[in-house]
Amino acid sequence: MGVFATSADSSDTGHEQVVFCQDKQSGLRAIIGIYSTALGPALGGTRFYPYATEDEALADVLDLSRGMAYKNALAGLDLGGGKAVIWGDPEQIKTEPLLRAYGRFVESLAGCYYTACDVGTYVADMDVIARETRYVTGRSVEHGGAGDSSILTAWGVFQGMRAAAEHVWGSPTLAGRRVGVAGLGKVGKYLTGHLIDDGASVVATDVNERALDWARRTYPQVDLVADADALVGADLDVYAPCALGGALSDDTVPALRARIVAGAANNQLAHPGIEKLLADRGVLYAPDYVVNAGGVIQVADEIEGFNFERAKLRATRIFDTTREILRLADAEGVPPAVAADRLAERRMAEVGRLRTIHLR
Ligand SMILES: NC(=O)c1ccc[n+]([C@@H]2O[C@H](COP(=O)([O-])OP(=O)(O)OC[C@H]3O[C@@H](n4cnc5c(N)ncnc54)[C@H](O)[C@@H]3O)[C@@H](O)[C@H]2O)c1
Repeated sequence: MGVFATSADSSDTGHEQVVFCQDKQSGLRAIIGIYSTALGPALGGTRFYPYATEDEALADVLDLSRGMAYKNALAGLDLGGGKAVIWGDPEQIKTEPLLRAYGRFVESLAGCYYTACDVGTYVADMDVIARETRYVTGRSVEHGGAGDSSILTAWGVFQGMRAAAEHVWGSPTLAGRRVGVAGLGKVGKYLTGHLIDDGASVVATDVNERALDWARRTYPQVDLVADADALVGADLDVYAPCALGGALSDDTVPALRARIVAGAANNQLAHPGIEKLLADRGVLYAPDYVVNAGGVIQVADEIEGFNFERAKLRATRIFDTTREILRLADAEGVPPAVAADRLAERRMAEVGRLRTIHLR
């Protein structure tokens, strides 16, 4: 039997709605956080993770869903921000009944929330969830899905980096620059290709030997260094964190020699205040959620019926958005991360307000 509860939580966190979902027989315990539908239905992936407590799961979904609202707003999408977490170890409890039970809860929100992949959920899971709900994206190509989102994520990061290069050096190219890529995974690999095509030299690192082998085989001109610390301390023009969150911390920022940071990793700032530390050291930080929006742009396009060229065009506009944020940051005398938040909030307020012009 399913148990379903919703609560408006706006007094504390600004969220429109938080939905707790439980289905005892399949073991499903999930929380869907809808931060904002000001711009349209909330879009954000489902994280399947063995949280220690329900409070931890709740804190994560509140944080992630808010972040999606800002990311989707600056990506120019007609979509609000939401996210879901399924609480449990996917290795142990992920089954067809559990995913389908979750799909029915998503369906019950009648299109206020669209789900997609995140940590612990994959394209194949979205196909299962889609057997119960229309409100799912990030499906397999054979089911009309868009496939690998890292292609446009890397393209968008490259565009954001070009805009940062223009801001610092006057020309929107990485030609002749030395770029450090931390993490040669799905995104880092494509990004390395774009950088080399543009005439940059790349220094990289990864903890995975297979990723390093790929680099040796595909781009023998890439310099490989021992670890992320060695990369941070290297003589770089640009540092591109493309592995895990928290790459910019009280330890790494003082060691950083690059003029620009622009990379794919989510949540690069280890804590609030790091953006100021970067600015004080003269490092231009292109906010992660702005430059890595190519992936969400891709899955959002799937809602319309996926068209790669249309999605790529939209991801290319990350160049213009980054440029605008950097201009605003200078004009208002704030770090780019603050300018990005202001721009996102402005779009949510100004475009969201139009919903009060009622159409009868
Ligand atoms: N794939 C997307 O569409 C997408 C979209 C938006 C944001 N992101 C973010 O970008 C980052 C990379 O995503 P991905 O899809 O390429 O992931 P991935 O798992 O394919 O690649 C991550 C790579 O980083 C390496 N790595 C892990 N720890 C490391 C360390 N300490 N030092 C060096 N390398 C390390 C891994 O071995 C792996 O090769 C993640 O933070 C992800 O959340 C990805």
